[in-house]
Amino acid sequence: MNDALLTLRDVHVRFPAKRNWRGKVVEQVHALNGLDLTINDGETLGVVGESGCGKSTLSQVLMGMLVPSQGECVRARSPGSRLANGMQMVFKDPLSSLDPRLPVWRTITEPVWLQGHGSETERRALACELATLVGIRHECLDRLPHAFSGGQRQRIAIARAFSAAGYHFIGRTHVSFGYFCSGTNSEFTGDATATA
Ligand SMILES: Nc1ncnc2c1ncn2[C@@H]1O[C@H](COP(=O)(O)OP(=O)(O)O)[C@@H](O)[C@H]1O
Ligand SMILES: [Mg+2]
Repeated sequence: MNDALLTLRDVHVRFPAKRNWRGKVVEQVHALNGLDLTINDGETLGVVGESGCGKSTLSQVLMGMLVPSQGECVRARSPGSRLANGMQMVFKDPLSSLDPRLPVWRTITEPVWLQGHGSETERRALACELATLVGIRHECLDRLPHAFSGGQRQRIAIARAFSAAGYHFIGRTHVSFGYFCSGTNSEFTGDATATA
């Protein structure tokens, strides 16, 4: 059985760098140059590289936000999610990616709400479960994002990524390091919180 969640085959991404007076591209930046990659279920992949080497571009290709100029990116279908094949992004700056007016329990369960799953009571219970998983106390769930520390906000962003029954998520850190990990919610451990 082939349990590859993500497969990249000879992926190239080129961005226009310079245009002539007629608007024709005369120079290109080669952000990704023939990348082959397979991520199987349960695997964690770390990507380390200097600034500008193509980590963010790779994240965008994996999420389907960017179409490769050449080659292909194949994602396994997730039965539990209609959003981006069960993939979720954990953004580098959690504050800018959290709605400042939304209590964090609503933020955490927003992907579930968008998919139209569960009653408000069920979503609240899910928020409690996920908050426990990432080390956020239940009594804090009605607070707004500004009332949390930077690390706690990152935990909230991770809980939100998992709420959509995400099979795999893509995270980025403040240093030049990105990681892509896959697995079910129950396999998530506190270690991933520390590195996010
Ligand atoms: N939208 C864009 N237009 C032109 N060049 C881009 C664009 N996005 C990224 N690049 C270039 O692609 C290369 C890889 O960028 P990026 O993936 O952001 O690197 P990293 O995340 O590893 O720092 C860099 O040289 C960057 O300047
Ligand atoms: Mg980057």
